[in-house]
This record gives sequence, structure tokens and C-alpha cells, in this order.
Amino acid sequence: MTPKNPQHMVLTTFMLPAGYHKDSWRMDGSRSEELANLEFVYDLTKMAEDAKLDAIFFGDIVHANTVMRGDIKMNGFYEPISVLSALAARTKNIGLIGTVSTSFSEPYNLARQMAGLDHMSGGRAGWNIVTSSDGFQNFGMDSAPDPVTRYRRATEFVEVANKLWDSWEDDAVTNDKESAWYVDTDKIHPINHDGEFFKVQGPINMPRSPQGRPVLVQAGSSGPGMELGSSVADGIYTAQPLKEPSVEFYEKFKAMAAAKGRNPNDVKIIPGILPILGDTQAEADELVEELANHIHLENGRVQVGADLKMDLSSLDFNEKIPAEWFSDDPALGSRYQIYRRKSVDQGMTLRELIVDLARSTGHQWMAGTATAVADRMIDWFDSKACDGFNLNAPFNPGGFKLICDKLVPELQNRGYFRTEYEGTTLRDNFGLSYPSSIRSRV
Ligand SMILES: Cc1cc2nc3c(=O)[nH]c(=O)nc-3n(C[C@H](O)[C@H](O)[C@H](O)COP(=O)(O)O)c2cc1C
Repeated sequence: MTPKNPQHMVLTTFMLPAGYHKDSWRMDGSRSEELANLEFVYDLTKMAEDAKLDAIFFGDIVHANTVMRGDIKMNGFYEPISVLSALAARTKNIGLIGTVSTSFSEPYNLARQMAGLDHMSGGRAGWNIVTSSDGFQNFGMDSAPDPVTRYRRATEFVEVANKLWDSWEDDAVTNDKESAWYVDTDKIHPINHDGEFFKVQGPINMPRSPQGRPVLVQAGSSGPGMELGSSVADGIYTAQPLKEPSVEFYEKFKAMAAAKGRNPNDVKIIPGILPILGDTQAEADELVEELANHIHLENGRVQVGADLKMDLSSLDFNEKIPAEWFSDDPALGSRYQIYRRKSVDQGMTLRELIVDLARSTGHQWMAGTATAVADRMIDWFDSKACDGFNLNAPFNPGGFKLICDKLVPELQNRGYFRTEYEGTTLRDNFGLSYPSSIRSRV
């Protein structure tokens, strides 16, 4: 393995086969008839691996609410563990990051699934830790617990999972045919966790996986979210539409990680970007228009209303949402505040808000040539606004092909991205070292 060049960005892609831009599946060539199938998502993954991206990333929601509102972007057609397991069999280097909620599962289950994926993929598993804001009605609850409680559970959930992954010492497997003992049981330890939410005896029932623990990714931007992310995560996903606030977020996050005794370089800050690429600026601008023309405005009204928890049925598309309809409540989340600023401070009309939300859901977006988009990305990277980007393909497969064929090579030519994988694990891709089992160190 060669060490990761610190001049190289981390580049992952948010795998939304229906396309990140809402309703882009209506475009010619979208392959929307193949959604939920393996072959289409494999083709996208192959493109990502050929471009040497660090990882593909699957989000997940555990309800059908958005589909029922006419939005199939975050559709849940691809349950992350199952699709990543299938993709593990057909890829070699690319990281496989999947979202699993801490609100609907038990740490013992999750620890086994992720360690299993790590074994099957030769060390390429990553877990995006989310607390979920929706879907509780599918799990015996009438409504979502408040965010602070959700994050308390998430924090304990991750603590238990980490203990389970460390419950086998690195050299617990002896494979000693002579003695008939496959493992050295002195090197496998119960965890005896007894906390507020979980009581878990342990140990886990499989050997330590190639990465020791899967790579942990997190996307909470609220106070408790950042607290959890800075304590445990190797990568942070975040919606940062503007450079200066992203520089501030980056500084704050790295300082929080350092204050917890962690090396700030081991926490990669990865904002999203949605590049709409053309050979000329005019061509890229045309694509922006074409994508916007596919948006179903009435569905958009319902979607924005649901995201902002407002009834927007009385508003004309050319009106602005009245400022007093918005709340200051931080519990509504960071994305809510981004839309509040767009509406109240920037004066976007309902139509503009719908288009904006449809395009990038609060993430940075840019239409331009590969050179211009790479200029912007390099400027953010050099300004310490980020350690890389989560690439949101505006439409699939064509929009992702443009990213892989034009944007990534531009970054490679300018020395900001790898041309060959450094090693075989996701930790190698991110430039992270192997975490020895805490048990092996005592
Ligand atoms: C790039 C990105 C991907 C996300 N993916 C998911 C997801 O798949 N499922 C989910 O429930 N939440 C997802 N979230 C939401 C976050 O987990 C988190 O709730 C949100 O960023 C707000 O932060 P907060 O919970 O600290 O307020 C994602 C957020 C970002 C920025």
C-alpha cells in the first residue's frame, strides 16, 4: 500500500440511481425502468471505480412518505446492506458506505452486518450513522423521539458497536488444526455493556474484520450531531452551499475532534457538490434549464411543505413564504435553516425554492465546464473549506458519466486526485490507519 497523497481530495459519490436532481428520471436515457435492479447500479459503480473514487455511498430512509409525495430520488429501493453486499462481489477497490439508522436496529445486528460486509469486501465497508427523522410509525412508535434523545441513543449505539468490533483481539483466530481450537478464546471478550438503551453481553460472533472496524461516516450538523461526529466519525457529510461558512464549519469540527484527543486529519470533512457539466458554459446552462423543466411543480409544493413542515397550498408559485411562517427552533435541523435563509434573506419565491430544493437540497451546485467546476473545488480544498467532496450526479447515467469522464480527469491532471488506488481497503482510500482492537492494546 502507498500512503494517500495529502494533496489528493477524498471523493465519494451519493448513489441515487434515479438522479440527484428531482424528476431527472424523466429525461431520455435515464434507465428508470431498471430502478431497484442490480445491473444499473452496478454500471454506475463500475464508472465510479474506473474513475478511482474513494467510495460509493447509499443513503437510506425507512418509510415510503417521499415516494407517496411523488419524489423517488431518496426512494429506498436499494436497501444498503443488501445492495452493497451484491456490489462487493463485483468490485475490488471502491469503498462501500451504507446508511443504517440507530433508531430502528440493535447494535449487535448492525455490528454483525457491517463486519460481515467488511469481510466479504476485503475491507471496504463504511457505515453512515443516522438517527432518522421519519419512519418511526413503522417501528411501533407514533412519532419521532426528540433529536436529543435520538442522538443519545445513537451515541450509545455506536459505543456498543465499537466495543463489539473490538471484542475479538486482532490475533484471536489461530486456525490450529492440531488442538482442534479454531480460536483462542482467551482473546475473545464479553463486553458486558449495560446502558440507558442497550444491554449487550457480547462478544460478537465473528472474527475481527479486515479494517478492524468499518469506516464511520456521519452527517449531523446540529449540536448533538456534531458532538457525535467529532467523537467517532472518520468522515463527515455536510450540506455547505457557501465557502466561508464551510471554512468555519471545517475549523470548528477539526477543533472539536482535536479537543477529544483525535488527530484532526483523521476526520475528513466532505460537503456535497452537484456539478452540472457542459463543454461550454452555455451548454451547462442549457442542461440546468432542461433539468428544471422536468420538475413537477405541484409535487414540489407538497415536498417543500413536508420538508419545512408547513401547509403551502394557499401560496402562488410566484409568492414568497411569509417570514413569520418560519421558526427559530434548532430542533428543525440545519437544512431547514438553509431554506429559511434562501426564502427570507435571499427572497426566493416558492417556485424558485422548489427548483432549488429539487436541484441540490441545500448542497452546493454549479453549472459550468469541467475546468470551471474543478477550479471551484480546488479553491475550497486549498482554502480548508473541505477535505474533498461527495459528488451528487444530477442525472443518471449521463450526468455521472460526465463527472467521471470530464471532472475527475481534470482533478487528476491538476494533481488533486489519485490515478491509481493506494491499497485495497476504504481506510487506505481515505488515508486512515488500521485501528487495533482496544483489547489487543491492553
Ligand atoms: C450527504 C447527507 C446524506 C444524508 N443521508 C441521510 C440518510 O440517508 N438517511 C437519513 O435519515 N438522514 C440522512 N442525512 C441527514 C443527517 O443524518 C442529519 O439528520 C442531517 O444532516 C441534519 O443534522 P442533525 O440531525 O444533526 O440536525 C444525510 C445528510 C447529509 C448531509
